[in-house]
Amino acid sequence: MDRIWPLPAVDDPALVDHYAYPDVDAPYVRVNFVSSLDGAVSVDGLSGGLGTDADKRVFGVLRQLAQVVLVGAGTARAEGYRGARRPTIGTDTPPPVAVVTGSADLDPEAGLFTDTQVPTIVLTTAGAPRAHRDRLAAAGADVAVLDDLSPAALLAELGRRRLNRVLCEGGPSLHGALVDHDAVDELCLTLSPLLAAGDAGRIAVGGTGGAPRPMALVGALHEEGALLLRYRRSGDVQDRD
Ligand SMILES: NC(=O)c1ccc[n+]([C@@H]2O[C@H](COP(=O)([O-])OP(=O)(O)OC[C@H]3O[C@@H](n4cnc5c(N)ncnc54)[C@H](OP(=O)(O)O)[C@@H]3O)[C@@H](O)[C@H]2O)c1
Repeated sequence: MDRIWPLPAVDDPALVDHYAYPDVDAPYVRVNFVSSLDGAVSVDGLSGGLGTDADKRVFGVLRQLAQVVLVGAGTARAEGYRGARRPTIGTDTPPPVAVVTGSADLDPEAGLFTDTQVPTIVLTTAGAPRAHRDRLAAAGADVAVLDDLSPAALLAELGRRRLNRVLCEGGPSLHGALVDHDAVDELCLTLSPLLAAGDAGRIAVGGTGGAPRPMALVGALHEEGALLLRYRRSGDVQDRD
């Protein structure tokens, strides 16, 4: 058993090191969530009520390390997504948001399309009404029509675009699909020091479930009662940094 708190203080450069992606030449999926101690993924339908200063800081660092922010349409709608602000470290541009939607029923006036420095990628299929796809393309979106929205198809498309450092910001349905297809390489989970009760869901829902996937703890930070945990798929080359 190791003691994980108290820890030496961690400044921003150390955070960047702490969360560095492994060297990869294919999509590596890091998932980031915040949850209450009793497992709620939202308060009044939004994650904001769970956030802490530390979680917000890490959220920003994770975006700066990513080449693409992958998000389900439910989260993009609920949370009023817009484009990322700060450039990916080592580049001049922020990572694009890639939104997964079967319906392509997204508001072309939303910040995802009107408040972004780089075109938002819409990952959809030919099953989405053409009118929806066309209006998003007209709003400046980069609409990718895939054969299906399975994790394999989504990651193949991101890999084709050389967007390998993937940061998935949820939501629970997309995360559930990724877990179900064994496509989660890493989970960054902030446990917020709150009890929420209510009927909010978990961080991963849906899919068939199947056998639980073992994960290895590779990082644990603490600030003002929040635990910022980093787990990697067990059995990877470097289970521990
Ligand atoms: N605590 C946190 O860290 C955190 C993070 C993210 C989200 N949340 C919360 O989670 C809630 C939203 O959850 P959600 O589960 O509805 O959102 P979600 O997973 O972001 O979005 C689900 C939607 O994604 C689209 N989709 C397409 N293909 C999919 C696939 N293969 N798997 C899954 N989804 C696919 C569908 O959109 P179409 O309907 O357009 O086809 C589906 O309705 C919000 O309350 C949000 O605040 C919390």
